[in-house]
Amino acid sequence: MHVNLHSKAIIQAMCALLAITCIAVAQTAPLTREEAHRRAEALLKQMTVEEKAGQMNQAAGMAIPGMGTEKPEIGIVKGQVGSVLWLIDVKEINRLQHLAVEKSRLHIPLIFGFDVIHGYRMVFPVPLAMASSWDPSVEEAVQHYAAKDARATGIQWTFTPMVDIARDARWGRIVEGAGEDPYLGAAMAAAQVRGFQGKSVGPESVLACVKHFAGYGAAEGGRDYDSSYIPEVLLRNVYLVPFHAAEMAGAGSFMSAYMDLNDVPATGNRWLLHDVLRQEWGFKGFVVSDAFAAASLQTHGFARDPEDAAYKAFTAGLNMDMASQTYIHNLPQLVAAGKVPEAQLDEAVMPILEAKYQLGLFDTPYIDESKVEAVLTRPEGVTLGRNVAARSMVLLKNDNHTLPLRTNVKKIAVIGTLADSTADIQGGWTVEGLFGGPGKGHPITVLAGLKNKLGPGVEINYVPGSVPTREYPSMMDAFFGAKPVVAPTAAEVAQWLAKAKAAAADSDVVIAVLGEMASMSSEAASRATLDLPGIQEQMLETVAATGKPVVLVLLNGRPLDIRWAAAHVPAILEAWYPGAEGGDAVADVLFGDVNPGGKLPVSWPRAAGQEPLYYNHNLTHAPEDRADFTSRYWDLNSKPLYPFGYGLSYSTFKFANLHLSKNHISADGSTEVEVDVTNSGTVAGDTVAQIYIHQQAGSASRPVRQLKGFRRVTLKPGETQALKFTLGKDELSFWSPQTRAWGVEPGGFDIWAGEDSTATLHADLTVTE
Ligand code: NOJ
Repeated sequence: MHVNLHSKAIIQAMCALLAITCIAVAQTAPLTREEAHRRAEALLKQMTVEEKAGQMNQAAGMAIPGMGTEKPEIGIVKGQVGSVLWLIDVKEINRLQHLAVEKSRLHIPLIFGFDVIHGYRMVFPVPLAMASSWDPSVEEAVQHYAAKDARATGIQWTFTPMVDIARDARWGRIVEGAGEDPYLGAAMAAAQVRGFQGKSVGPESVLACVKHFAGYGAAEGGRDYDSSYIPEVLLRNVYLVPFHAAEMAGAGSFMSAYMDLNDVPATGNRWLLHDVLRQEWGFKGFVVSDAFAAASLQTHGFARDPEDAAYKAFTAGLNMDMASQTYIHNLPQLVAAGKVPEAQLDEAVMPILEAKYQLGLFDTPYIDESKVEAVLTRPEGVTLGRNVAARSMVLLKNDNHTLPLRTNVKKIAVIGTLADSTADIQGGWTVEGLFGGPGKGHPITVLAGLKNKLGPGVEINYVPGSVPTREYPSMMDAFFGAKPVVAPTAAEVAQWLAKAKAAAADSDVVIAVLGEMASMSSEAASRATLDLPGIQEQMLETVAATGKPVVLVLLNGRPLDIRWAAAHVPAILEAWYPGAEGGDAVADVLFGDVNPGGKLPVSWPRAAGQEPLYYNHNLTHAPEDRADFTSRYWDLNSKPLYPFGYGLSYSTFKFANLHLSKNHISADGSTEVEVDVTNSGTVAGDTVAQIYIHQQAGSASRPVRQLKGFRRVTLKPGETQALKFTLGKDELSFWSPQTRAWGVEPGGFDIWAGEDSTATLHADLTVTE
């Protein structure tokens, strides 16, 4: 369930759920996995089959209309519920936990799960934005902060990180991940696991859940939930890579995806859940389904009936059923009928109990309600939020040094409804954050941020325009009964355009804050076009026609078709959905208090028709830049508008002296790539050094380029840093469809270093037998 709530009604409804008062951070020392196992084993011996199935049942903490979910208290007392999700009211969490611990036969505490995606009370930039920082330490810090918030309110398990590779901007959930690249995605995935769990799972950790296993981002046509067809070679070399990285970082749980993967639903896919995850990777945690996914094995036409669904999910390796009650209603009789051996049930329950022990739930099951508010309002969250937001922004265009704006501008026209929309600045998955950040005035819109920065001496003429419309109401609008967005009449449009024109003509500079409403991204929010929705493009063209300098600030969850802006607007800043401190951070960047240094984690398309679009593709025999009969469109350059890894700065950087410590290595050897990076501009700033490789020949065709190293550095004007990256087995190997194994193959490799995926500084590497 995607929660991006807009209307007052929704907020009121959620308010009722929230009687926030408090926390208790358990202080007991972490148990070793062995000790947790020993205790879980002893407990398991006392459990009935039904109680075991109960631990594998995650109940919805709130009723979902039409989904047959109900308040779980009776089940909890009977030992039929092991976990609860979608609950953030601390009093209610405590009440249910008391029932489990005091009223159920074996006193097994519940584990409460929730989607803490990019912050909790303090909302940070959306994941795609954080990936644009190209700084895993940022992700780690944010998730560490969020973990403390969550744990304080009784949430011990988050359905994060989402590590799905997204090569198609039409897919709404591209906003929740790290973009298109497996190497960057792997780094961000591992960082998030460390942020939530710490060094190992203990009483202060929030258990991470790596999702959506696997291939969800390759949905056909970019339509959410649709089938994915991904050959094994692509799964191994691309889609599974961040999952494996998260597993190696110690992630305690995985979530199986909704869709069919190569015709076998992920939730019933034994190859994924068992062969790859457990046998090959040695995963020791537990797998939960996505919400209602066990039941929908039947909808997919994979299971005959709910019992068959339970059987197929269980035998595939699914430990916990999220919300659908398929397990609790069917597993006990499957055991009684001898179809599921009890020993297998024990094996499946074990990691759930182990996690509960490791998280300290048996020792400290309850929250100290008197402490919650103090944790949720930690002032350091505000500073972190502002820094991370600014660090995540990508400067796409800056002709004639339009940015940074001079502080002596006296009149500014601000255009666009998104400029002052508290509902949109934070992006989706912001339930608790709707009640503001840890400080007053959150979330800070761009308009508010500009006012904060400039004070009363600068006149701001704000012209919102009409709300961007959508063809269909969002899932959440329908869910909470909010009014659908109505398209403006022709007369209204004409009025808005006239107002925008007048405001622009009367100002020194125009800041157009355009993009998508937050509900147009994330779950069940795919798009067939990537246009600026509603009348935004007209507004932009109108203000640009006045001849005043225009700065376009984008608030959006996916790359958009901004061809007109790229050709006509001098400065474009991609701010994504920057979170509760977003408005202040945008103002910091626009006025030069922060020099932007983010880079695109996705290839930016010119138009939706190019999707899927990604830089690490193979070559055809006739690439576009040859003469004729080439791989191209009649009507559009097939290259991206902005390449993967791209982003400008108010400074400039030069890469030089690329060399390898060894130009010849053996297949199990390694070499150091060394390159000098110089700030050749006049202000201090950041760039991201990026290393790409290409294997020239081998047992399979290899991508034209693959990212295999990156580092974000801050340099003073004139400063040079010598950077080193290692290329060894981890970077040079790939899974070959011919040998069906990972390996480094002898032969030639191209190595490039530079600021994006079109870097030209080149070196040669030869790998010998
Ligand atoms: C469905 C979403 O696909 C998943 O990402 C989320 O974690 C669950 N609902 C729980 O809210």
